[in-house]
Amino acid sequence: WIAILDYGSQVTQLIARRIREQKVYCEIIRFDTSAEELKKRAPKGIILSGGPCSVPDEDSPKCDPALFDLGIPILGICYGMQLTAHTLGGSVKPGLKREYGKAMMTITKDSPLFKGLAPDLQVWMSHGDKVETMPEGFEAVAESDNCPYATMQNLDRNIFGVQFHPEVVHTPQGKEMLWNFAFKVCKCSGDWEMSKFVEDTIRQIRKQVGENHVLLGLSGGVDSSVVAALLHKAIGTQLHCVYVDNGLMRYRETEEIEDLFGRAFGIDLHVAHAGDLFLGKLKGVSDPEQKRKIIGSTFIDVFAEKARGLSDKVKFLGQGTLYPDVIESVSPIGGPSATIKSHHNVGGLPDDLQFDLVEPLRELFKDEVREVGRELGLPSYVVDRQPFPGPGLAVRIIGDITPERIEVLQQADLRVREEIMKMTNHLDVWQYFAVLLPIQTVGVMGDDRTYESVVAVRAVESRDGMTADWYKLPYEVMDSISNRIINEVPGVNRVCYDISSKPPSTIEWE
Ligand code: XMP
Repeated sequence: WIAILDYGSQVTQLIARRIREQKVYCEIIRFDTSAEELKKRAPKGIILSGGPCSVPDEDSPKCDPALFDLGIPILGICYGMQLTAHTLGGSVKPGLKREYGKAMMTITKDSPLFKGLAPDLQVWMSHGDKVETMPEGFEAVAESDNCPYATMQNLDRNIFGVQFHPEVVHTPQGKEMLWNFAFKVCKCSGDWEMSKFVEDTIRQIRKQVGENHVLLGLSGGVDSSVVAALLHKAIGTQLHCVYVDNGLMRYRETEEIEDLFGRAFGIDLHVAHAGDLFLGKLKGVSDPEQKRKIIGSTFIDVFAEKARGLSDKVKFLGQGTLYPDVIESVSPIGGPSATIKSHHNVGGLPDDLQFDLVEPLRELFKDEVREVGRELGLPSYVVDRQPFPGPGLAVRIIGDITPERIEVLQQADLRVREEIMKMTNHLDVWQYFAVLLPIQTVGVMGDDRTYESVVAVRAVESRDGMTADWYKLPYEVMDSISNRIINEVPGVNRVCYDISSKPPSTIEWE
């Protein structure tokens, strides 16, 4: 495996992804992990990430200098390169001017990092400081206009530094460089497969859980579905899943979950059919935040009641925590998830229901989770499922929520999904759904005038849901969506397409 020491760069996760894409396992660990600890864990290579601080600054995060004496190959990226230079006796010049963006780099000496690459390469720079003098034993391998030491190396000690960022797509050959580091320099074997992850994780789960039982809240989303399949494979009947049907799910979603997890997988699944309870509490409520609050607290109540009825051997709660949720807690500058704790007091559950956590996906990125799901035999409609908000269709029904309006939206939404899923590239669309508006407009049907509801169609492309652009659906697809909704869904006589991006709009309408 390869250890990535995190100095707080926004793109540290990308280093991990690029390495894992080569089937080499890696972990992002604390920037101040000791050489002794690393020696014990014996990685085949160490990467020092970039970061926002300035190495000459006394308070900036440093590494254990003994790392460089372990005999393990090291690659410093940006801040990591400067830290390497600083620690080994070179000097770093605080930058007066920030270099940011594309640069051309010329390779001037042979380096295993650049094996097989052309001598002139485009790279992505993002730094203020730079290495002024290299430490003894190092040679410059590549230069750019702004940076005489765009890359440095000490071949005897297998220590490398690059001022640019090989992990981002704007360094087109960056992937090859990281491949060279992992395979040519660190001699990794590239045998990290999802099947192996599944085997190892099942063993760990059994060890952690022992004879105890595990409770899992199954939502039908990708993460909880994969956790369910994984836990079931590991501990079988010691797993109890609770699924809360809040009456605000998409068409036939609850039945699909019962069929797949309850019947096909044979998981001990407890479904709380609580639609009426939720709808009762939502009666007359049209404020989005109030809807969310009511749904959130009712969910906890219903879930807790089901959970109390389960085996008193339940000591653990399964959670679909993913790697991006835990990473920031190791960075020197902290981050939004720095406060995430790994045990107890989860999700607002009452005091009598506090458990230790089982988080078998903690080390995985989303696309790896999908791969594990496939490995475990989950169908594509589960592993490739689009994100769906916790409050469900409630935030897509603008205004009052009634059983009739839920039915109209479910039917319209089904047609949006069916038509878009006919596109061969539908997996490129991040989310697509229908929204029911609280207005009525005039139409004609045959000889009659109609006065019925409007449905808005929303389809967006996005990487992470934080920003998004409206998806340029082909006209034919829009056409068939509109035709089918207007002809097949009673109560709707007009369809609009939402052409706003986020920001300033959001993906959901509420
Ligand atoms: P917005 O609408 O804020 O949505 O652009 C960003 C992403 O988050 C999802 N979303 C939610 N997910 N509970 C959730 O679990 C919520 O209350 C919620 N609101 C929005 C949304 O579907 C999109 O993927």
